[in-house]
Amino acid sequence: MSGWLAIAGLGPGDPRLWTGEVVEALAEATDVVGYIPYVARVPDREGLTKHASDNRVEIDRATHALQLAVNGHRVVVVSSGDPGVFAMAAAVFEAMEAGPDAFRDLEISVLPGITAMLAASAAAGAILGHDFCAINLSDNLKPWELIEKRLRLAVEADFACAFYNPRSKARPEGFGRALDLLKALCEPGRLITFARAVSTPEETLNTVPLAEAVPEMADMRTVVLLGSSLTRRIDRPGRAPIVYTPRSVPV
Ligand SMILES: C[S@@+](CC[C@H](N)C(=O)[O-])C[C@H]1O[C@@H](n2cnc3c(N)ncnc32)[C@H](O)[C@@H]1O
Repeated sequence: MSGWLAIAGLGPGDPRLWTGEVVEALAEATDVVGYIPYVARVPDREGLTKHASDNRVEIDRATHALQLAVNGHRVVVVSSGDPGVFAMAAAVFEAMEAGPDAFRDLEISVLPGITAMLAASAAAGAILGHDFCAINLSDNLKPWELIEKRLRLAVEADFACAFYNPRSKARPEGFGRALDLLKALCEPGRLITFARAVSTPEETLNTVPLAEAVPEMADMRTVVLLGSSLTRRIDRPGRAPIVYTPRSVPV
């Protein structure tokens, strides 16, 4: 039997958010490859071999997965959320470009998933209800100056923004600098939502005016949603507030 490779998104946490085609690919797979906590989300079964690796070895992991598929295995590379959003799909194609011709001959597919910002926006209401952009705040693979430039231009264009990878133990300072810049550019009442571990039992949502935001409100399990100047909050007695961005911009 010839091998294939699927790069699949497992969504933000709850397995009920897996798409049907991801469920099918995992049912047919001989091998699952990915970062340790994501591989752990796939149930064990007979005939399925799990290859879990640590963070920051994406190209090695991608090359290993491609080689398994060339050797005839049915391989699913798993990412959290969507595999094309700051995740493994691009890493697999980088490894394909740099690798032997056999990698290019493979049957390969990317199976989308629900990315963190969409799950977080839905949990809060509809923060991404109008134009928005997504920015990865990690400077592991790009210079910090570029992140600052993108933040400035996103605020100038009045996008709502989703910030991935806001803060880690290895990068404790960056998010504080990003917040300082946003506070200098936006009005103090601008709404900002810290959505942590969305769609898991540990989920928390915290919406505050930007002036009250502090770096400690975010960690690596948090996606941060900054509203546009039009984003507003509906308070409801005894219930969580709704945060949403209207569909139109006044002329
Ligand atoms: C390497 S990126 C992977 C993004 C993923 N491919 C996606 O589409 O959601 C990891 C970042 O995604 C965000 N993230 C992933 N899952 C999340 C969740 N369940 N709740 C909140 N943020 C999450 C966090 O910002 C985290 O630092």
